[in-house]
Amino acid sequence: MNRSRQQHALSELGRRTTAPPISWLMRLTLERPRLISLAAGFTDRASLPVAETRELLEELLRSPRRGQSVLQYGTTLGDARLRERTARRLCELDAPAGRPETYDASRLLITSGSQQLLYMVTEALCDPGDIVLVEDPTYFVYLGIMQSHGLQGRGIRIDDRGLDLPHLERTLESLRRTGALPRVKLLYVVSYFQNPTGLCTSFERKVGALELLRHYERAAGHPLYLMEDAAYRELGFAGADIPSALAAGRLAGRVIHTGTYSKPFATGARVGFGVLPQPLFTAVERIKGNHDFGTSNLVQQLLASALATGRYQRHLSALRLRYARKAGLMAAAARSHFPPTVRWREPTGGLYIWAGAPPSLKTGVRSACFRKALQREVLYVPGELCYTPDPSRSKPNHEMRLSFGGASLGAIREGMRRLGRVLTNLSQ
Ligand SMILES: Cc1ncc(COP(=O)(O)O)c(C=O)c1O
Repeated sequence: MNRSRQQHALSELGRRTTAPPISWLMRLTLERPRLISLAAGFTDRASLPVAETRELLEELLRSPRRGQSVLQYGTTLGDARLRERTARRLCELDAPAGRPETYDASRLLITSGSQQLLYMVTEALCDPGDIVLVEDPTYFVYLGIMQSHGLQGRGIRIDDRGLDLPHLERTLESLRRTGALPRVKLLYVVSYFQNPTGLCTSFERKVGALELLRHYERAAGHPLYLMEDAAYRELGFAGADIPSALAAGRLAGRVIHTGTYSKPFATGARVGFGVLPQPLFTAVERIKGNHDFGTSNLVQQLLASALATGRYQRHLSALRLRYARKAGLMAAAARSHFPPTVRWREPTGGLYIWAGAPPSLKTGVRSACFRKALQREVLYVPGELCYTPDPSRSKPNHEMRLSFGGASLGAIREGMRRLGRVLTNLSQ
């Protein structure tokens, strides 16, 4: 069959979907052994819970009866024990702000990474041409889901306390005026140690955003959801935890809350979860039934046991200390090696430092900066990838996301030194 006929067989979605940057960033990292990657969101290799996982598997597989049950298919919604424990954990994290019924395990489902949930929720809510409001900048892999589904984005500015509510209001109002509000379905917010900026959204801002969305529902003609992605919530190492949007009382009915065990336990386990309101919950359950009719039972049981035995909690405490150290090292290296015109914030959690050069110093995929960094065998995520196409502004192209997650202490030190050299040379 010739190439054009093969291409012709692709669906609209198949044809529309462009190559996600995450795939080439990860490939580059794995294929070039000398490359220091400050790009991919890999977690810290040295602290992955190998011994704990071996013990847990040993326990799960010790008796044939138990072993047989964990090696069997599970259910679409997920392992009952893990759903229960996850719901309880969320409730405890939000106590005393939350109401226990909001965290009922019957509203919670387990997914194959939270990425699958982001995908399915978007699929369940959005048709091509619909509009999703996202933080400006946002998690660039989510932008890939939007692109693939033919969705439009509008960027909502963020500051030190998260979403810029006056900008959200102006955006909603302008969409109402142009008659586009019925196409808006959700606002997607990475509310803890945001990927890519490391910023957190305060509880007051979450409530404020929910109030604004509720206000515009009449003009939209349907519910407007806040999708809160809490992937990095448990990776805080400075400052107090912030209640999730689920604790927003009567407004919690419009909250889609997603979380993951990838970052706090093991990225290779790839187990995520979500609390969803009806009728979205049922729609997503059905879509998951078609996707994979259930996340790996073995891995779910492993996590449920990790939580039940306290191994998860102990691992997390050690992990926070480890990331605090790595973040401190990266920040110190930025202070020593970056020119003073490059701005960044001291991280308080998560895996990232977001560095902004003056607008004249481009950092994009085609920039001299990116090319020279690669020549020196160091990789970062160009900031431009984290901005949705938005007709109301051009994409900023002078920032970079630097991860202290996957690189070793030595690699962070050396990678930052090399990057500092590139930035200094380009600043002269
Ligand atoms: C903000 C955010 N959400 C979701 C995910 C997906 O993680 P997972 O599918 O491993 O749960 C990531 C991964 O990097 C992320 O950064």
